Amino acid sequence: MTNIERIEELKQEKNLPDEDFKLLLETITQNERDFLARQARMVREQEYGKDVYIRGLIEFTNICKNDCYYCGIRKSNDKAQRYRLTPDDILNCAREGYELGFRTFVLQGGEDGWFTGERLEEIIRSIKGEFPECAITLSVGERTKEDYKRWYQAGADRYLLRHETASENHYQSLHPPDMTLQNRKKCLFLLRDIGYQVGAGFMVGSPGQKVDNLVDDLRFLQELKPHMIGIGPYLSHPDTPFAGQPDGSYERTLVLLSVLRLLFPAVLLPATTALGTIAPDGREQGLLAGANVLMPNLSPKSVRKKYELYHDKICTGEESAQGKDSLNRRVESIGYHIAVSRGDSRIE
Ligand code: 5AD
Repeated sequence: MTNIERIEELKQEKNLPDEDFKLLLETITQNERDFLARQARMVREQEYGKDVYIRGLIEFTNICKNDCYYCGIRKSNDKAQRYRLTPDDILNCAREGYELGFRTFVLQGGEDGWFTGERLEEIIRSIKGEFPECAITLSVGERTKEDYKRWYQAGADRYLLRHETASENHYQSLHPPDMTLQNRKKCLFLLRDIGYQVGAGFMVGSPGQKVDNLVDDLRFLQELKPHMIGIGPYLSHPDTPFAGQPDGSYERTLVLLSVLRLLFPAVLLPATTALGTIAPDGREQGLLAGANVLMPNLSPKSVRKKYELYHDKICTGEESAQGKDSLNRRVESIGYHIAVSRGDSRIE
């Protein structure tokens, strides 16, 4: 079987045997990647037309109790300059975002205990009170069922929690012993059962990752059936135990975006900041490979540089929400256009 045949089968069947996934990922050529991206784009346009959905990302705290070996805001990095936005700051970010045309706000942060179930609930209620037609997405890690329920009842619509890697041993090699893949998965299923639109995802090329691990990721996603899938290349950060490890592959990330589009035709798939960091036109190429969501930064300029998950994260102009005009032009230049809408998932 050739890779072209594999791609055609993947598109038809929305699936492939493990061995064919592996061979495709390992042996795909530039021409075959172009073919794959075209197929993914076709499916994306059948599902979502030319619309690109945008989310205003509010990185509201970089304080984190976790010590993930890959992450620049891990607890043990004492070089990180820590910050925490106030509830008022957060509401002001949403106000600015609304004016710019955002109808989804993503509240993302480290696992910061200051934001108790109750405090975050109040923040959700204040944003929903002022902008009832907007969607709120939370991305604040592993919390209790009670917190998740409380926030859902307060009006949160969606939750992003990347599983990072679906292979037990690989998960353990990326995280300290107090974090488990089992709890991560448990949280994802809980969130889905509560009623959130759920996003999972993984890093491409994280240290020690093998093709088998990527196949595990795809199989786990097939089991979870998330509404959203966030992936991006692993990018090394100098102040982590993984300093100096090679970055993930740009090309492989694009291939995986296309594979995900063919596997999950209706999924919401962002071209992420990490993709825009590894290549200057990474996010456009991501859209051309099947992605349909962008998540510009709405955080105050003064803190943007501090939310440094990885080295040299883009965070000055164009990628930010304030650079919306230029973002618009970039999206139009590849034949798509930014929708002013909540951009809900088409999955149940
Ligand atoms: N490189 C790329 N992505 C990273 N993330 C954390 N650290 C890095 C890194 N060094 C991703 C994780 C996390 C998301 C918010 O950012 O997948 O879930």
